[in-house]
Amino acid sequence: MGEIAAIVLAAGKGTRMKSALPKVLHRIAGRSMVGHVLDNLAALKVAKTAVVIAPGMDSVAKEVAPHAVAVQQDQLGTAHAAAAARNVIGKIDGTVLVLFGDSPFVTAETIGRMVARREAPTSAQGDRPTVVVLGMRPNDPSGYGRLITDAEGNLTAIVEHRDADEQQRAIGLCNSGVMAIDGAQLWGLIDAIENKNAKQEYYLTDIVGAARARGGNAVVVEAPADELIGINSRAELATAEALCQQRLRARAFEGGVTLTDPASVFLCADTRLGQDVTIGPNVVFGPGVTVADNVEIRAFCHIEGAAIESGAIIGPYARLRPGSKIGRDAHVGNFVETKNATLGKGAKANHLTYLGDAEVGAKSNIGAGTITCNYDGFLKEKTVIGDNAFIGSNSALVAPVTIGAGAIVAAGSVITRDVEADALSVARGVQTDKPGWAAKFRAAREAFKKSRS
Ligand code: UD1
Ligand code: MG
Repeated sequence: MGEIAAIVLAAGKGTRMKSALPKVLHRIAGRSMVGHVLDNLAALKVAKTAVVIAPGMDSVAKEVAPHAVAVQQDQLGTAHAAAAARNVIGKIDGTVLVLFGDSPFVTAETIGRMVARREAPTSAQGDRPTVVVLGMRPNDPSGYGRLITDAEGNLTAIVEHRDADEQQRAIGLCNSGVMAIDGAQLWGLIDAIENKNAKQEYYLTDIVGAARARGGNAVVVEAPADELIGINSRAELATAEALCQQRLRARAFEGGVTLTDPASVFLCADTRLGQDVTIGPNVVFGPGVTVADNVEIRAFCHIEGAAIESGAIIGPYARLRPGSKIGRDAHVGNFVETKNATLGKGAKANHLTYLGDAEVGAKSNIGAGTITCNYDGFLKEKTVIGDNAFIGSNSALVAPVTIGAGAIVAAGSVITRDVEADALSVARGVQTDKPGWAAKFRAAREAFKKSRS
């Protein structure tokens, strides 16, 4: 197999999104559209990739790094955009792929089929197609370029919707935008493309005619339309999100995960779930979550940037924020928030607690209402709790502070100094009892109230 290079076009303004954010940076399942495209490509051996951006799209360049970007000065069409990548891609002895940054779901399997088709000899003389176009048959083809084929099934032209006549518009086979082109001929063909059309743009679709004019051949490979959708508006973004969630849930089922109410569980493209994980209703995953085998995540949890080890029970109503590491068989219960916090094996924080910038040792118990006071308005400080410690309810641990292994902190304490291992620390107002005081108080108040009426 020859070399593979990829050009991802992302310089379009994306006007219909009505957004200050470049279109390809809008997220689907927590990952930018262009990120999806690049991730799908990662499964193939792509020697060089260039993402074509418009001037000022530094945020896109940052998102796609370390992939190279090429800047298209003016947006004069898809062929003009591909030409902008010439210096980055150079001459490729193999196949150059062109993909759109706003078509996030094209799979590596489909692209692999296109490359295989591009490199397979189509005649006894060993000729290979110059261009392979990825076609689809969407329910509503309007807006898409139509693929015109001859009796042998060769692609003879691509006609943009607005340039097409009635007969051509009746064709259901459409251009997805993805192409695989002979690297040896690519730049010469692009140079031959003109802008004589309704929009006066340089259309990459005209590469079919250019290739045929030089004695080359173009063919079509088809894939399901829902894999090839392009996103141009917020409504299409929402449709794409729903499609992506469906796929991620299906992948979870295949991996041995139970979702009791799949439609209310939102996963991220990078969510990793082990076997025999059970997830209740209304659970939302942000980026960077890894869940080991046999974990139970109960209803209404919000989890991002967290690693959960096997046997742990999370929720209901838990919030795990970035940097949370929940140890084996640990419990994080309702209204508990963790951030940059490690819970050791079998540790428990079952109710109403904030653990931020904290380390909790194995088998320690964090009582209801415990707060690690990690921030003084200027700096974040750390709380370290040893193994087998017991933090009484409603304690405030003012960081930086260390609670030794096996220590007990009395309920309601405000701990500002380190506590030794196995010590008891009580840091609260001393209890004073006045026998009979309440009864006397009530009698006095009642008499006073009567005297006023
Ligand atoms: C294009 C195809 C059409 C196909 C459809 C599939 C052409 C001429 N038409 O039409 O046949 O059915 O996609 O969705 O190719 N871009 C640039 N620079 C430019 C212009 C576009 O980088 O100067 C990028 C856009 O960011 C986008 C992609 O190229 O990612 C496609 O451009 P767009 O304007 O959306 O083309 P369509 O009209 O949708
Ligand atoms: Mg488009």
